[in-house]
Amino acid sequence: MQVSPLTRRRNQGRLSPSWSLTGMDYGVPRPRPHVVAKVVIAATLTALCMFILRQSSALDGHDLFSKREEGVMHVLVTGGAGFIGSHAALRLLHDGHRVTIVDNLSRGNIGAVQVLQQLYSEPGQLQFVHADLGDNRAVHKVFAKNAIDAVMHFAAVAYVGESMAEPLRYYDNITSNTLTLLKAMVHHQVKTLIYSSTCATYGEPAQMPIREDTPQVPINPYGKSKKMAEDIIRDYVRTSNMAAMILRYFNVIGSDPEGRLGEAPRPELRQHGRISGACFDAALGVIPGLQVKGTDYDTKDGTCIRDYIHVTDLVDAHIKALEHGVPGEVGIYNVGTGKGVSVKEFVEACKTATGVNVSVTYLDRRPGDYAEVFSDPSKILRELNWTAKYIDLKESLSTAWRWRKANPNGYRSLISAI
Ligand SMILES: NC(=O)c1ccc[n+]([C@@H]2O[C@H](COP(=O)([O-])OP(=O)(O)OC[C@H]3O[C@@H](n4cnc5c(N)ncnc54)[C@H](O)[C@@H]3O)[C@@H](O)[C@H]2O)c1
Repeated sequence: MQVSPLTRRRNQGRLSPSWSLTGMDYGVPRPRPHVVAKVVIAATLTALCMFILRQSSALDGHDLFSKREEGVMHVLVTGGAGFIGSHAALRLLHDGHRVTIVDNLSRGNIGAVQVLQQLYSEPGQLQFVHADLGDNRAVHKVFAKNAIDAVMHFAAVAYVGESMAEPLRYYDNITSNTLTLLKAMVHHQVKTLIYSSTCATYGEPAQMPIREDTPQVPINPYGKSKKMAEDIIRDYVRTSNMAAMILRYFNVIGSDPEGRLGEAPRPELRQHGRISGACFDAALGVIPGLQVKGTDYDTKDGTCIRDYIHVTDLVDAHIKALEHGVPGEVGIYNVGTGKGVSVKEFVEACKTATGVNVSVTYLDRRPGDYAEVFSDPSKILRELNWTAKYIDLKESLSTAWRWRKANPNGYRSLISAI
C-alpha cells in the first residue's frame, strides 16, 4: 500500500481538530485534564506518522496501480476511511479488485485503512491517498497516476443537523466536490460511477413507502446538496456514455459480521449523533444516556420511523450496481429493507443487543428531521436481484456491539498499538 504524505494542501481540512482523541467533546461525565489530552494526542500522532512512514516506504506495488490488468477492476473509493467506504473497500478487495482510497481524514479513521492494509498487503491491492476532493489538482493527479476503471463516491459530510447549522459546508463538500470529481472522471475517461445518495433527497413524502419515482423535495441542506449532485450526474450522463448508478441509502447500521471493521464515530461528531453510535456510547458509559429527539410525531409511538439497512447488505448493492451499469444511463435505486422501525423500538433493540439498560431522555424535535421514512426496495430486487439479508435488527446491533465493545475507543486503540 502506498500512503501519500500527510502534508496539508491549502483547502484541506485542518488535521489537528480532526485528531481530537480526548473523547471529551460531548456528553462525557468527567473530562480529563487538558495536559493528559495533549499527551494522548501527541502520542497518537507520533504513532500515526510512524505508520504512514512505514507504509510510504512500501512503494514497490505502485506501478501496478498505473496499469490495467486483465480481470482486475481498479476502483477508486472516495471516503474509504469512513464507515461505509471502508466496508466497501473490504468487499472489493475480497472480490479480487484493486482499490485506491482517497480520503482527507476529516471524519474517517486511518485505523480502518490500516486494518484493510493488514488484510490485503500484496503489492497492487490497496493504496491510500490523503487528499481533499475539493482540491482540483489533487483529484486530477489521482486519475493521472492511476488506471482507474470505476469510482465509488462515498466521501461526504453527512449529518442532517449539522447541515442545518452549516449549509454552505454541505453544498461545498457534497455538490461542489461531486462536480469536481465528475469533471476529473470525464477528463480521464473513467466511465463508471456509483454514487452514494440518500433518502434525505425525498424530504417528507406524503406516501409511504418511498419509491424511486416519489417526488424529491428535500427539506434540509444535506438532502438538497445530495439531490443537486444527483441532478449534475443525471444531466451529464444523458450526454455521454458514462454508466452511473445512484443509490439512495436509508439509515445504515451494523458492521462487518467477521468483526474486522466497525462503526467508530469520532468524539467530536457525537453531538450530531447517529443512533447506533449513540446507543453504544451510552451502553459503554461514554455518554450518560440516549437522547430521543421528538415524541409528538404522527407515528405509531410518537417517535420517528426509519428504515435501517445493514452496511454489509448496502455494500452488496454497490457490487451489484457495479456489475449492472449501462453506458449512457443512470440507474436509480433505493437501498433499504422496506420496513419502518420507530426510534423507541430501536432503543429497545439496542438495550437487548448490549444487555445494558441505557437511560433515555425524551426531548423536543430536532430541526430538519422528518417523521417517517421507509423504502420500497422492489425496483432493486427486480433489476439488480438485490435484497436485504440482515433484517434482524437485534442481531445486526449485536454484531456491531461486539466490535465496539472490543474497541471501545474505536480505531484509535488500534493505532496506538502500532
Ligand atoms: N451512514 C448513513 O446512514 C448514510 C445514509 C445515507 C447516505 N449516506 C452517505 O454515505 C456516504 C458515506 O457515509 P458514512 O456514513 O460512511 O460517513 P463517514 O463520515 O463515516 O465517511 C465519510 C468519509 O468521507 C471523508 N471525506 C469527507 N469529506 C471529504 C473530502 N472533501 N475529501 C476527501 N474525503 C472526504 C471523511 O474523512 C470520511 O472518511 C456519504 O456520502 C453519506 O452521505 C450515509
